[in-house]
Amino acid sequence: MEDLIVLNNVRKVYKMGDKRIVALNDINLSIKEKEFICLLGTSGSGKSTLPNMMAGLEKLTKSEIIINSQHVEKMNEKELAKFRKLHIGLCFNPTT
Ligand SMILES: Nc1ncnc2c1ncn2[C@@H]1O[C@H](COP(=O)(O)OP(=O)(O)OP(=O)(O)O)[C@@H](O)[C@H]1O
Ligand SMILES: [Mg+2]
Repeated sequence: MEDLIVLNNVRKVYKMGDKRIVALNDINLSIKEKEFICLLGTSGSGKSTLPNMMAGLEKLTKSEIIINSQHVEKMNEKELAKFRKLHIGLCFNPTT
């Protein structure tokens, strides 16, 4: 089956003053259609950052994210809004 989601060298660095926090460091992952996946990791390992990046909610730091053949990292805000409406669903747990 085709890859529906492809992450190539996904990197996210937060800047807080003169501090740099590497939340994601070169993540490579592909997910096929109908595949069901679970992200597991210790607190602070980047589990929440990753779906935020995939939805284009976070500014990308040098990454390639392809969903349904569309490059998320190349979209402007207007394109991202349309893309999210058509392809993305996020559920936030208010207790975390
Ligand atoms: N907006 C932000 N500004 C600065 N640093 C951030 C921001 N969001 C997350 N981080 C940092 O990025 C790293 C990854 O955070 P993230 O929230 O993705 O981890 P997590 O795996 O979801 O953790 P948890 O299990 O506690 O929810 C952590 O070091 C966190 O402090
Ligand atoms: Mg989290």
